[in-house]
Amino acid sequence: MQAVISVRNLSKTYASGFRALKDIDLEIRRGEIFALLGPNGAGKTTLISIICGIVNPGTGTISVDGRDIVADYRAARSLIGLVPQELTTDAFESVWNTVSFSRGLFGKPADPAHIEKVLKELSLWDKKDSRVMTLSGGMKRRLLIAKALSHEPRILFLDEPTAGVDVELRRDMWKLVRSLQAAGVTIILTTHYIDEAEEMADRIGVINKGEIVLVEDKALLMRKLGKKQLTLQLQNTLERVPPRLSAYNLELANHGSELIYTYDALGERTSIAALLKDLTEAGIRFKDLHTTQSSLEDIFVTLVRDKK
Ligand SMILES: Nc1ncnc2c1ncn2[C@@H]1O[C@H](COP(=O)(O)OP(=O)(O)OP(=O)(O)O)[C@@H](O)[C@H]1O
Ligand SMILES: [Mg+2]
Repeated sequence: MQAVISVRNLSKTYASGFRALKDIDLEIRRGEIFALLGPNGAGKTTLISIICGIVNPGTGTISVDGRDIVADYRAARSLIGLVPQELTTDAFESVWNTVSFSRGLFGKPADPAHIEKVLKELSLWDKKDSRVMTLSGGMKRRLLIAKALSHEPRILFLDEPTAGVDVELRRDMWKLVRSLQAAGVTIILTTHYIDEAEEMADRIGVINKGEIVLVEDKALLMRKLGKKQLTLQLQNTLERVPPRLSAYNLELANHGSELIYTYDALGERTSIAALLKDLTEAGIRFKDLHTTQSSLEDIFVTLVRDKK
């Protein structure tokens, strides 16, 4: 798949002297949902703001659909919609005017039918004449999305779109993101909700202290780094793991009533079959068994911790 955004050797030092981004190389593929994960202060908003032309890049180059974001700013920017992390909107305007005005900013001709469609999709239609200041927090967040979609961008950045929103709105947003992707829009989102990335993303990037720690296909990442555990509930408690089973990574738990086998998610089948056979031969019986798999959250915590 072709890169729609390409970031090369990007570093950013703020006026304060703080180095927020260090030598970032990143390619976003056309049509994908890319989730950028990282702890507070990692540089997510800085990176997005630079790509969207809100914060000046330091060194490095960025192109959006082949257009350099500095040399060809207007063309590059018009392809992008940005849902910012902070709620900043003109309080006294009506919802309708705010969204229509956003479209105008990108030099697009007025299109009331499009604005109506966007407001309806975001359940803001009945608020179209309300002043922005009278909206609830969740509605303001929807409004930010409506504004970002007003000029029909081909690339949408969502900077923590679901921070502090209720479960229903979160689901609505996920649905909207999926339908945008189906319409060919490339989506880049940042989130602290790792289950969100796990659910939504095609690829995942992890950023920590201004550096990209990893970029990986989600499914592959989970397979590569995910540990699996098989827990066997034993019929009779064991005092220790029998020496003949020492080749396996086994641990006793729950006062010897459970045997836990930890293995890599890759290529596990044969080893489980062998373990069960060896257990039988060792005369160890079990009442029940279940497997668990580490979540993206476990993987993420390990990655970020290891890099500290
Ligand atoms: N205008 C600025 N001047 C100086 N430092 C800044 C500025 N904006 C951000 N920073 C610093 O850059 C670092 C990265 O901030 P950024 O907002 O990009 O993080 P983030 O990953 O978006 O975090 P969060 O998850 O909290 O939103 C932080 O240490 C922050 O204090
Ligand atoms: Mg941020």
